[in-house]
Amino acid sequence: MIDRVLGDIDTDLDNALARLFDWLRIQSISTDPAYAGECRRAAEWVRGELEALGFKAHLSETSLHPVVVGHKPKPGAPHVLFYGHYDVQPVDPLELWETPPFEPLLAELEPGRRVIRARGACDDKGQVMTFVEACRAWIATEGELPVGVTVLIEGAEENGSKGLPEWLAANKDELKADYALVCDTGMWDRGTPSITTSLRGLVYREIVVKAADRDLHSGMFGGAARNPIHVVARIVADLHDENGRVTLPGFYDGVPETPPEILAQWNALGLTPETFLGQVGLSIPAGEKDRSVIEQIQSRPTCDANGIVGGYTGEGSKTVIAAQASAKISFRLVGDQDPQKISAAFEAFVRERVPADCRVEILDHSAARAIQLPYDMPALVKAKAALAAEWGKEPVAIGSGGSIPIVGDFKRTLGLDTLLVGFGLDDDRVHSPNEKYDLSSFHKGARSWARILGALGS
Ligand code: BES
Ligand code: MN
Ligand code: MN
Repeated sequence: MIDRVLGDIDTDLDNALARLFDWLRIQSISTDPAYAGECRRAAEWVRGELEALGFKAHLSETSLHPVVVGHKPKPGAPHVLFYGHYDVQPVDPLELWETPPFEPLLAELEPGRRVIRARGACDDKGQVMTFVEACRAWIATEGELPVGVTVLIEGAEENGSKGLPEWLAANKDELKADYALVCDTGMWDRGTPSITTSLRGLVYREIVVKAADRDLHSGMFGGAARNPIHVVARIVADLHDENGRVTLPGFYDGVPETPPEILAQWNALGLTPETFLGQVGLSIPAGEKDRSVIEQIQSRPTCDANGIVGGYTGEGSKTVIAAQASAKISFRLVGDQDPQKISAAFEAFVRERVPADCRVEILDHSAARAIQLPYDMPALVKAKAALAAEWGKEPVAIGSGGSIPIVGDFKRTLGLDTLLVGFGLDDDRVHSPNEKYDLSSFHKGARSWARILGALGS
């Protein structure tokens, strides 16, 4: 039976690519209001796909972009909630793209390695379609799915899932399931499948420091007038000590130590600064000095400035003291770190460093707790076997450095554990120019979900 399903995925691959390319042409950038219409088009597109498979599907409004919900119940069988997102990150800097971001194509990265290139190719349209194609193949060959399925595809994940927690709470009854499935994470490497068992949380703030009531001549006022760029730079610099630790008071409250047996498994994966940082042109780990690279990216909390702006940034020079400067700063959280407490500690940290005659605004972009999933979930055990059969290699359980804010709400609001299986690779350039998704991730990803669905239904 599974062979027929897998065979169908193989023979229909070109059509599957054409379907994905249609979706990739839609410019569903969720953080830029100018693209709200495109977000809605992307939602409508998924609804059409789901309806074509016999799902009962509709759009539902949230405070930002609509979500798509599709149902295909199966009485007597387990029921899963599949989640993904149709929104994508902005494309800038556009000039660094080798081909236009919303004109998907197949490129050859190296001899024999074909990749789908477009914004969203991996994150998350390509990944979502691995699941949808698996459903399509089951329905085409067997006439039905092995489990009941509710599909929830949102359009604001890249914007901190704005509006979704409230929507989830208001639509609990429609989302009843035994557990959730998510395809928005990565593999360990090209040959090694993985199941993600933790996601980092996130606190994202922005500070705007205002000094004089206008830009000033730096000869006339320099020396006496406060420079807001210096104030912002000091705040950013003060956030780490010389050992790479974050200096916010209370920041490490609730950070757990990784169990030794899990750490041993991670260490056996052999990640080194050379292999991990080498691929992006670096060599020296910048995190906490007493932690290995794998801990730094999977199980330790971080603080990063994601953007900093102020003063004259055009061509040539201009002798000016700017009236304001700003920085976007985010924290990745692990374990039981409390986003509210960290956010408050950050505010106090900033206010202490702003001189009395300056003003500071502190904006809020997102807050989400970290999540840790049970290593012994029954669905995880079944998925492991299914992945091993597809890839010919035992999957590894890894922690993800990234965040998927809504997964914590699946647990808190819906009471669901989540199985996170994805086929992204470290060189996919997600959120960067020239995002791609390996054809093998797309093809074998669909085959993997077909097997996982079969295993979950048996
Ligand atoms: N798919 C990613 C999360 C991810 C990245 C998981 C890498 C595993 C490996 C997701 O789309 C994402 O980018 N999340 C944002 C959340 C933020 C915008 C609130 C993130 O992690 O920065
Ligand atoms: Mn994603
Ligand atoms: Mn993303």
